[in-house]
Amino acid sequence: MLCFVKVIQFIGIWLQKIFTMCGITGYVGYKNASPILLEGLRKLEYRGYDSAGLALLNGSQLYLEKRKGRVSVLADEMQKHPFRAQTGISHTRWATHGEVTDANAHPHLSSDGNFALVHNGIIENYESIKKFLSAEGYSFSSQTDSEVLANLIAYHYARRTDEKCESRFLEAVRKALMHVEGTYGIAVLCRFFPKQIVAARKGSPLLIGVGKDEMLVSSDVLGFAGRAKNVIYLEDSQVASIAPENCDIVTIGNKQIDFVVSKIDWELENADLAGASHYMEKEIFEQPKALENAIRGRISDDLSTAQLGGINMTPNELRQIDRILFCACGTAWHACLAAEHLIEKYARIPVEVEYASEFRYRNAPLDKSTLVFVISQSGETIDTLEALRESKRKGFKTLAITNSVGSTISRESDGGLYQYAGKEIGVASTKAFTSQVAISLLLALYIGRMRDLSFAEGREIVKAVKSLPAMAEEVLKLAPKIQEIAKKYAKFDDFLFLGRLSEFPVALEGALKLKEISYIHAEAYPAGEMKHGPIALVCPECPTVVFANTDDVLPKIISNAQEIKARKGPVIAITNSPEDFEKSADDIIPLPKVHEALCPIISTIPAQLLAYYIALERGCDVDKPRNLAKAVTVE
Ligand code: G6P
Repeated sequence: MLCFVKVIQFIGIWLQKIFTMCGITGYVGYKNASPILLEGLRKLEYRGYDSAGLALLNGSQLYLEKRKGRVSVLADEMQKHPFRAQTGISHTRWATHGEVTDANAHPHLSSDGNFALVHNGIIENYESIKKFLSAEGYSFSSQTDSEVLANLIAYHYARRTDEKCESRFLEAVRKALMHVEGTYGIAVLCRFFPKQIVAARKGSPLLIGVGKDEMLVSSDVLGFAGRAKNVIYLEDSQVASIAPENCDIVTIGNKQIDFVVSKIDWELENADLAGASHYMEKEIFEQPKALENAIRGRISDDLSTAQLGGINMTPNELRQIDRILFCACGTAWHACLAAEHLIEKYARIPVEVEYASEFRYRNAPLDKSTLVFVISQSGETIDTLEALRESKRKGFKTLAITNSVGSTISRESDGGLYQYAGKEIGVASTKAFTSQVAISLLLALYIGRMRDLSFAEGREIVKAVKSLPAMAEEVLKLAPKIQEIAKKYAKFDDFLFLGRLSEFPVALEGALKLKEISYIHAEAYPAGEMKHGPIALVCPECPTVVFANTDDVLPKIISNAQEIKARKGPVIAITNSPEDFEKSADDIIPLPKVHEALCPIISTIPAQLLAYYIALERGCDVDKPRNLAKAVTVE
């Protein structure tokens, strides 16, 4: 029975408690499933695009189509061989086990032909299960860990002799999962149950979309392709039996679950290109809006501070904090570094920044008054999630900054701050980064005002924060100039990025953007470190991008630029003191003068544009760079 225990509308607060990297979609209803599944897959391609496939079920006929390459290749194939069915599952893959081939693409069939499965995650003990199943007569046609699971389900199904009721299907999946080590989000079809999908998750996100006389399954609300108004977030170790009008959820240990149905805010999830050539371009230009959303309702003019209710901590509790530990991956890790500068400078609390993937295994000794903060655009990055869980397990208060309402990280942290930046689809993160840094600045202001930051200093920062959207708009006007500069430099294969203090994270982020989408080798250093090694790389074929917007160290970085010029290295200066770089820079991207606290946000924007235009010049697939995926839900 579909049990709508609580319908929760996300209204802009962090809901406390109630709350591969492949893309999965599933459909069970009364419409033709194939176009719905393909539409969902297209929306999920940001999660991986090595291969795509679908399985459709009509009566007891199971139809399978899978292809190496993008979803468009699969869609072309489906045009040639249309198959009508009202139940189906599909998958877009980011390869983990097994090369990118048709055979390794999902769905996978059990060797008895009764089950089709799509899987996101990694089955760690698949070798031993495979050995066992081979001895039992099951065979394998791919190199994947996922196919093993399809056969394990078939094995458990075959062991039962009772009548073919729907619970027998669910039971087979549940029993199989009891023997699995690793992570999974799965959706399974069984030839004997044409109106049923069984789905389960552990460590990989999986959502059930509730539509009118139809249900969908997806790794992300986007995969519902606008068809569902409500969503059920499956929790770890839960198995769901899904039919057009109802859904039943139990734990792997067979405990019935009273699940929660939440309303989807489609405004936040909107993911159209809106006339832009690429999502990355669209998202870069959305930054003024994203910044506005990040700060809206979070500033108190009267008190010259920020108001951050979502963190669920009283001023007294916050005052007990002696240290903040930030954990994240990729671009979000760079946001943590920017947060470190801002919080240490304005709130005067020591901050440490850890790679989530390292932290979760390194058993770092933490003081009991440490506050753990994770930053994650998707809210699903497995390393970040596990770092959060490890911290919780040790009893630390955990907070999160995330852009994904209802994501696993938002549900499992003790509180946090939503970014409201709007869906980010481009694999290279842009608006999410600047929004994360803006929120970190609010955090610095908020905690700072509880400590040593004076009313007057607070007022200056408040004024600056309020100017952020307009300042970002101003910088975006430089796009044509930056595009011209990009044309000149697109031929180079090595770049250096230099910044100091809060612009060192910007240098790291600029270099990462270039690497990710242009496949150009780029290294970032604090400018003062250049002479301790990287200067050996300087030559006419290795341009250096210099960020110079922080007054405290401006003369120093001017000297660094001159040192590069003296060695015939081309210099691109991104600076609010253009006159100081006339002699040393070959090209200057002039920025407006802003409060220093805004520097890491404002100077990142030209670096994003530079990377974007260089990638275009080089003919790269900007939104789908090779080997990458947006949400990394495998280790
Ligand atoms: C992947 C993406 C990066 C992103 C990182 C962390 O590596 O390609 O763009 O920064 O994951 O993602 P998160 O969603 O946790 O911010």
